[in-house]
Amino acid sequence: MRQPDSFLIVIFGASGDLTKRMIMPGLFHLFRKKLLPEKFTVVGVSRTRYTDEEFRSLLADGIKQFAVKDTVTEEAVAQFCQKLYYFPLDYTQADDYQALKDRLQQLTTTQGTSKNYIFYLSTPPKLFDVIATHLGYQGLQQEQDGWRRIVIEKPFGYDLGSARALNKNLLRVFQENQIYRIDHYLGKETVQNLLVLRFANGIFEPLWNRRYIQHVEITSAEALGVESRGGYFDSSGILRDMVQNHLLQIVGLVAMEPPSLIESNAVRNETLKVFQALRKVKAEELARYVVRGQYTASAIHGEQVKGYREEASVAPDSRTETFVALKFYIDNWRWAGVPFYIRAGKRMPTKITEVVISYKAPPLALFSRGETDFAMKQCVSGEARCVGCRRPPGEACAGSHMYDASGVGYNQLIMRIQPDEGILLKFNMKVPGRGFQTQRVHMNFSYKDLTDAYLPTAYERLLLDCMNGDATLFARADAVETCWDFITPILETWAQSPSIPMFGYPAGSWGPQEANALFDANDIPWRYPCKNLTCDRMYFE
Ligand code: BG6
Repeated sequence: MRQPDSFLIVIFGASGDLTKRMIMPGLFHLFRKKLLPEKFTVVGVSRTRYTDEEFRSLLADGIKQFAVKDTVTEEAVAQFCQKLYYFPLDYTQADDYQALKDRLQQLTTTQGTSKNYIFYLSTPPKLFDVIATHLGYQGLQQEQDGWRRIVIEKPFGYDLGSARALNKNLLRVFQENQIYRIDHYLGKETVQNLLVLRFANGIFEPLWNRRYIQHVEITSAEALGVESRGGYFDSSGILRDMVQNHLLQIVGLVAMEPPSLIESNAVRNETLKVFQALRKVKAEELARYVVRGQYTASAIHGEQVKGYREEASVAPDSRTETFVALKFYIDNWRWAGVPFYIRAGKRMPTKITEVVISYKAPPLALFSRGETDFAMKQCVSGEARCVGCRRPPGEACAGSHMYDASGVGYNQLIMRIQPDEGILLKFNMKVPGRGFQTQRVHMNFSYKDLTDAYLPTAYERLLLDCMNGDATLFARADAVETCWDFITPILETWAQSPSIPMFGYPAGSWGPQEANALFDANDIPWRYPCKNLTCDRMYFE
């Protein structure tokens, strides 16, 4: 991979958590791998008054805490920190930006970097416009003597209207090709691997369409609740926080047509076409396609945890969803009639993100199924014997366990984004012995087998791409707006019809039972994954 040109990166919001946990460790990893040019400078900007030395020592601690352990040595951290500077600034004061411009000019001279600037906005979104506008007043976006790029963290808007306004304001100052909207899911190795799996192999793509695929499922579960982010989350909800951006971007990669080449606009034109083909959910059909929920207090592994409404900075009567499940269609030639399901939630049994392709059954059932071959469904009291708590039918289940639903034989291709990154293919084999009973078996690949080193973090990859001027893995304005165009009607319907149910689910469970009803009665239900990719036959952990 080529080293970028020498540059100076200005991080607005430098005293924040993201800078400490993600951006600086990402830059440090690149530095350790010698992927940064010899000459680069990092300038932290925020309201707090620090000296350069105080800022360095603060971030040195952050790097030691959050960078991958075997990359950290005292010497390397000290060397890296010599490149860091700090500039206190009041975001609304024009004079401060003039002084910042002078400081940048001075640093490029003393440090010998070229005038290639990256402005990284790791600030609350209400400051995006303000900062971009002031940078424009100073002419800092102009590229006469070096390239200029601006990186924006999510959220890109709150709904379609605000996303359009944000893009319009940014585009008054910067050109679209100077704007890098970070979606850290696109920086994940395993998300990028969706492209390689599909388009570097001859065997998957011919089966990747409505003729062979029964449905596609994307699960993003988190074990944690909202932690210290109750204030932000309560005004957002999981649909905005995870689905509008990260999970729809994954849908884009799973469903896109092959691009003519791997280049930023070629790839993003294809994902945009997927977003344009998303069938919007009509208000009167919402109950059939969308289920929302909120976690309630529960005991997880013996430890009592709060319900969402008891979390700090969350309204006690909050109607913000911490779980959502959607069923939707992509109205194009490849996917006509194939349901897509997305499920995202906080306080679920474990942290997992994965894509599951479920294939149609063969046209004729020639063989009977072996006893060990069963499909799992979430336990509903009275439906069957629960394999989790072993209660007989009719007795209340003690938790969200699974029961043997003995569904139809099916093949699944599972692309695990995180953790235990890998690919799993499930198919049927003959049970040894007489007759022709079948059993589902696994063939799996694990990323661990490819490398002894850690998988590069999303921020590391995205920062490097931005330095190299490659926007393939960044969200383009039209894609962001088109995704909002799909999501906003759901948000509006919820806002206009408070009687639409908000289902409670016990913290530590797989969400409300109602999410199962999105599937047709004879369809394969949600997969209930475990931390380990290949293990889903037991109840969750
Ligand atoms: C962020 C969301 O964008 O993604 C968080 O704001 C969420 O609420 C996080 O926890 C999940 O990211 P990851 O990489 O940990 O799966």
